[in-house]
Amino acid sequence: MEFISPTVIIILGCVAVLFFLQWKNLRRPPCIRGWIPWIGAGFEFGKTPLEFIEKARIKYGPVFTVIVMGTRMTFVTEEEGINVFLKSKEINFELAVQNPVYHTASIAKNIFLKLHEKLYITVKGKMGIFNLYKFTGQLTEELQEQLQNLGTHGTTDLNKFMRHLLYPVTVNILFKKGLFPTDERKIREFHQHFQAYDEGFEYGSQLPECLLRNWSKSKKWLLALFEKNIPDIKTHKSAKENYPTVMQAVLDLLEMEANEQKSPNYGLLLLWASLSNTVPVAFWTFAFVLSHPNIHRTIMEGISSVFGTAGKDKIKVSEDDLKKLPLIKWCILETIRLRAPGVIARKVLKPVKILDYTVPSGDLLMLSPFWLHRNPKYFPEPDLFKPERWKEANLEKHAFLDCFMAFGSGKYQCPGRWLALLEIQICIILIFYYYDCSLLDPLPKQYPHVMKYTTWSYSSGRQEESEIIQRALPVRWSGTYIWP
Ligand code: HEM
Repeated sequence: MEFISPTVIIILGCVAVLFFLQWKNLRRPPCIRGWIPWIGAGFEFGKTPLEFIEKARIKYGPVFTVIVMGTRMTFVTEEEGINVFLKSKEINFELAVQNPVYHTASIAKNIFLKLHEKLYITVKGKMGIFNLYKFTGQLTEELQEQLQNLGTHGTTDLNKFMRHLLYPVTVNILFKKGLFPTDERKIREFHQHFQAYDEGFEYGSQLPECLLRNWSKSKKWLLALFEKNIPDIKTHKSAKENYPTVMQAVLDLLEMEANEQKSPNYGLLLLWASLSNTVPVAFWTFAFVLSHPNIHRTIMEGISSVFGTAGKDKIKVSEDDLKKLPLIKWCILETIRLRAPGVIARKVLKPVKILDYTVPSGDLLMLSPFWLHRNPKYFPEPDLFKPERWKEANLEKHAFLDCFMAFGSGKYQCPGRWLALLEIQICIILIFYYYDCSLLDPLPKQYPHVMKYTTWSYSSGRQEESEIIQRALPVRWSGTYIWP
């Protein structure tokens, strides 16, 4: 037998160790590929995405990859992965959303990448915590104007109720007072097209427009609405509030950057971002409060103690009044926790290590606020509606509970979060001040895989959502206040 020298053994050993280390470095997370090339697990994932994510976590562990329509999506579900998602410099927001933005608002990727940061800073500044007080009076007035249409009593579907209140209020505040149509037929058209656009958003963000005829029609209708009104929005000066609206600030920036022709497209994005989450959250907050009699009663007592006998006068809501009614804010946040976006996404720029795995560049890194909010490690008794858990949050310092991720996180966290909370707070105060409300049916069942609203970056589960929301939840209101 031939003798192998010790030097050769050492060299072979070193090579083996090197290979092992390299293999360990390149070990990718377990991957669910499905049967069909390119489509991957697209069908199973598309049917019930949230259920799919949870089952995959149980089967494959805290980090796993799913191939869907040619895209590699790597999900992170525990601390280490979440930390990478939140803090790594190799993870990018803009590259993850440029495709959906292109499909849904026809903003070319190069324009989006060039302007995104500046636009984000502008929008965030306008709706930031220190400018919020500028919206309080306007929101109260606009909401009261809409409440007049309710008369003294009535019954309708709660979702319709919320849309009829919040569509006009949000549009008139963010774009221009009076922009929302007042003519019955035009209001109906707006509702029909916005809902079609919103409900088809998930498909619209991924598929070519030519495959989605109705959705495309509604998208064009909304773009034409902005096209027609941009000159007015630009020049409109409010007699009372000498403060440009959020859309006016966006238009100024687009003008400075010589990109005015894209104004309607950015208008559409702002419209969708502001309505698509706020309206369902308002719906669910009301539904939760009305179906918890003790919480409902405590809120009603709080409102009477701050504003006097319910329904007696036309009221003004101030920042101080809001501070005296913390339970309302806790109820909204608890609703948002339970109805959080299914997933948010980032693009991996350079390979990142998570646990023993290396996630390759080009993957979409996915985090599910929906499931994170149902982890008992972070939220004890996660399936219960428990507004009192928000006592622990330092809301005075504008901090949410740890691991609350409904508004995303990091550099590009939702810039409209404070405005959304304020709008729903005032909405609840005014409705409960002027009206006695009750649900005529029990709360719709909460299916574990159902997501009630999603983020614009990567939305999944909307079709399940609309099925539930479309099942009407009748609400009855009655009051004594006679509107002047
Ligand atoms: C309860 C209501 C809302 C929820 C749950 C919500 C949630 C989110 C989430 C999850 C994101 C993505 C953040 C990320 O990936 O890190 C986002 C982005 C955004 N949201 Fe909201 N949002 C709400 C209300 C609003 C409102 C009222 C506005 C506008 C007035 C708004 C404007 C935006 C915009 C413009 C972005 C994109 C930010 C960017 O381009 O970087 N949102 N929102």
